[in-house]
Amino acid sequence: MVGKKAKLEVPDLVNEEYYQINTEILDSFPKYHPPLNLFFFKEDVSRIAPWFTMGGRLRPDQVEELAQMVKDGLIFVSRVDHAVYVKHISYQLDLVLLDKHLMEGEIADIFMEALTMRVKDFFDQPVKVVFDKLQADVLVLTEYLFSDLFRIKSLLRRMNIEHTLANHAVNTTLVGLALYAQARAEDFQRGQVKRKYYDLIAMGLMLHDLGMSKVPTFILDKNKPLTPDENQKIIQHPKLGFAALAKLDLKYPEVEECVLDHHERMNGTGYPQKKQGKELGLSGKICAVADSFCAMISIRTYASAVSKIQAATSLADDKRYDARLTKLLQALIVTYFKDETDKAPAKS
Ligand SMILES: [Fe+2]
Ligand SMILES: [Fe+2]
Repeated sequence: MVGKKAKLEVPDLVNEEYYQINTEILDSFPKYHPPLNLFFFKEDVSRIAPWFTMGGRLRPDQVEELAQMVKDGLIFVSRVDHAVYVKHISYQLDLVLLDKHLMEGEIADIFMEALTMRVKDFFDQPVKVVFDKLQADVLVLTEYLFSDLFRIKSLLRRMNIEHTLANHAVNTTLVGLALYAQARAEDFQRGQVKRKYYDLIAMGLMLHDLGMSKVPTFILDKNKPLTPDENQKIIQHPKLGFAALAKLDLKYPEVEECVLDHHERMNGTGYPQKKQGKELGLSGKICAVADSFCAMISIRTYASAVSKIQAATSLADDKRYDARLTKLLQALIVTYFKDETDKAPAKS
């Protein structure tokens, strides 16, 4: 057992190659079967050495010993095991905010993994208990971003362009939040944006296609033109999603606008209510732009993907969308993805 001591000094080289794990992370591992190799820091020689090999089983006394060593900051996992660690930590996303050794790109990987998994689970099983887990994770995301809005860049660079409902929900959330930050940039600078509104926008964006979870999968997956009946089902999805919000205790205008109005257009040519521009709120208009952008950049069965810059440019030329928002999106995409000009979309 290691006794009480002054704060452990870990050489930089160790932090570059290993993550130090804390008690919360250890508690999220199966008690006797840690899911990856563990290493301990030998203070006398200032070196890392193997402590546990994945696949093995800990004895009860080792479980205790490990708990103490973690408390003393002596236990590490290798950054080589990043993929395992990401998957694991994504089940307890709030740990991301506690782990001071994670780098921005690693945090972004974990968010993408966690949010995609949670929203997929929820669309597969759209009930309150599953929703609560998704909501908890979205709130970890907003907490992370709200303290530094520029952090969204690493997340945007990780958007998954394979079209699934879950990928689309996550992408739309990220693009929509980035656009919201631009649209209210001065308010953010003056500290006049309440965290609550930021949270609600994030929830609305994530759930904008909630109604799609009520449309039969064979229609969603169809790669031939839809029959008028099937089309009718799709066109109903904003209303179906809107009706489902009550059960989730999400009757807030910001969320409702995203869900109900994301297919409405400024000139009244959208659906389901053919609203005009002046009847649309900021979140509904942001969601419309983010949704269309994310659809255009993804690989779908019925249409090929375009590059992010091409998508943003064609939206900026499209009068059916709020002109200020599409211009802001274009500027943002050009800034963040200038190295991707005219390239076919690819994962970064
Ligand atoms: Fe939609
Ligand atoms: Fe959508």
